[in-house]
Formats: sequence, C-alpha cells, structure tokens
Amino acid sequence: MKIAILPGDGIGPEIVAQAVKVLNALGETFEMEMAPVGGAGYEAHGHPLPEATLKLALDADAVLFGAVGDWKYDTLERALRPEQAILGLRKSLNLFANLRPAILYPELAGASTLKPEVVSGLDILIVRELTGDIYFGQPRGVRVCPDGPFKGEREGYDTMRYAETEIRRIAHVAFQAARKRGKRLTSVDKANVLETFQFWKDIVTDVHQEYPDVALDHMYVDNAAMQLVRAPKKFDVIVTGNMFGDILSDAAAMLTGSIGMLPSASLDANNKGLYEPSHGSAPDIAGKGIANPLATILSAAMMLRYSLDKAEQADRIESAVKKVLAQGLRTPDIYEAGTTKVGTAEMGQAVLNALL
Ligand code: IPM
Ligand code: MG
Repeated sequence: MKIAILPGDGIGPEIVAQAVKVLNALGETFEMEMAPVGGAGYEAHGHPLPEATLKLALDADAVLFGAVGDWKYDTLERALRPEQAILGLRKSLNLFANLRPAILYPELAGASTLKPEVVSGLDILIVRELTGDIYFGQPRGVRVCPDGPFKGEREGYDTMRYAETEIRRIAHVAFQAARKRGKRLTSVDKANVLETFQFWKDIVTDVHQEYPDVALDHMYVDNAAMQLVRAPKKFDVIVTGNMFGDILSDAAAMLTGSIGMLPSASLDANNKGLYEPSHGSAPDIAGKGIANPLATILSAAMMLRYSLDKAEQADRIESAVKKVLAQGLRTPDIYEAGTTKVGTAEMGQAVLNALL
C-alpha cells in the first residue's frame, strides 16, 4: 500500500512526522513517499502543486496531508498561492466528499468555550461537498461591471453552481453515513435566497426517497450556524455545499475545544482519499514544537479505515489517543490546570506508546 506524504507548510511537517511515526509502529508495511506541497512546493519547484507531487498523489492509494499556507505568500498571484495546492489536489483526485467529524472527548469538555452541558458527548459529522460550488464555478474574476448602478466600475465576481450529479452523489454519501449513525440528516442550504440551493434542496429531497429509514430535515445556513452554538447535540449528520461546509465545519470544530483535535477525510467515488487535519498551517506556532499532532494522527486512523481497509489498526490508534487524553497529557491548545502540558513530539510518542 502506497501512501503519499505531503507535509506542506507551517506546523505541517511537525505534525505529519508524528503521524508517520505512529503509522510505522503498527507493524504493517506501508510504502511512504514524501513530496513538497504548498509554500514548500513553491520554494522547491516554483509551484504550490508541483507536477511530481501531483503524480505521487495520483499514483498512491491514499494521501496524508499536513497543511498549507503562510502569510509570506499572500502577495503572490492567486495561482501560485499555497491554498491552490489543496484545491488542485481535491479537483484532480476528484475528492468530492469531505467528512469532518466533530467529536468531543469527555476529557476535553472543559476545553470548549461553550458550557460543558451544551457540548459534552457531542458527536456530529459534517459532510461537505468539496469540488463544486462557488469555489470552482466559472466564470470568475475581476471585470468592468457591464450594467446597473455600478456600470463601468471594476467588480469582483464568482459563480455559485451545482450540477445535479454533484448534489446526488454527495447526498448519497451523507445518507449512507447517517444510516450507520443516528439516522438523522440535516441538509443545510440558502434556498430562501439562492437558486443553486433551492435546486440543492430539491435534489436532496429526491434522493431521500431511497433512504426512508433516515430522517431528513432542511435548515438555512444562518440558522444552522446559530443552532450549532445553541444546541449542537441536536445534529447527527449535516450535509452541505463547499462554501457553507467550509464555514460551518470551523464552527463545529471549535465546539470541541480545539480544532487541533479534528481529523478529516476527502474521498472520491472509490474511497481513495486525502486525509488532513481540519486545522490550518498555524504559521505563528510553526517550529516551536507545541502544535497538537492528534488531528493528524486521527486523520491517519481515518485513512486506515476508509482507504486502506485496516479498520482494526484505525481502532488501535483511536484508542491510543483516548488513552493519552485519559492520562492527562495535553498540548498547549487543550491544556487546563491539573493536566500535564506536553509538546508535539512527546504527544506523538505517547500515542505510539499507548498502542496496544
Ligand atoms: C479548508 C480550508 C481550505 C478551504 C482553504 C485552505 C483553501 O479552509 O480545508 O477548510 O477553504 O477549503
Ligand atoms: Mg476551512
């Protein structure tokens, strides 16, 4: 089994190193190959997604990804910015289904900014469509405004769009995920304003006919944002478009106390996937050895489960993470009085030691 290892920028290399360490301790033979991506790709080959990196990702059975981005690339033209690497990988590998679980480990109930009773036991799954919507819609750009009150002035514009096939396939992923969990699915849209999302709602409603055992409800995105902080435990599975999913998944992540805890999987139609922590490259703490590697380690567990057909090994890693939390080990982002503060490498080593 071949795994492409793409550490990227900022804290990416530090956290990915810990996940690789844990993977290597499982007693399996994985062929791992590393390549630069994001700002690191730009530095090495003049492009955030160098050709060789893309080829490695295309040829691999799964991709373990760290994070990309750094302020120092903000002035580059858009096509060369680090973010284009992850967008390019998602598009080139057809990774349309993004699974972002938000689980609150009981030991971390106090780390949430919300009251423990609001979040304790939280276990929701956001299914975000990842290769469509306003992220990739054409045309886009800056042009001279052709008409209306701002005619003749420059304007920026993007295109929100979803093809029926795109909505159907992500709806199927979400209904199937809901079927394996609490059997409740909330489809988040903005059908009261946007044509794209009225269409989304109609198609999801149609797909629902194939899943009579799953309860479906629809919610506008602004209300969903409010409900996520008001009563997040009412959700089971949420399915939504690329843009709304980007925003809601960050909010959901923070309910759990730390975005540093949350893994994600981005899957194609055949369960080939890219696995990355839900957080970003955090350049402000890069190189300090204090980043939380658990989201990346848990992403490696998702990789074993979804793409490499090694559910037992995934269980081992997830149990080991629970164990180190129970032991009271905390990186600074989840630290509370009475626990033991550890760095990135120590946390990785502790997970490795806790593997059964
Ligand atoms: C995410 C990130 C990306 C996105 C950025 C880095 C392009 O925010 O994975 O949520 O917007 O999808
Ligand atoms: Mg995001």
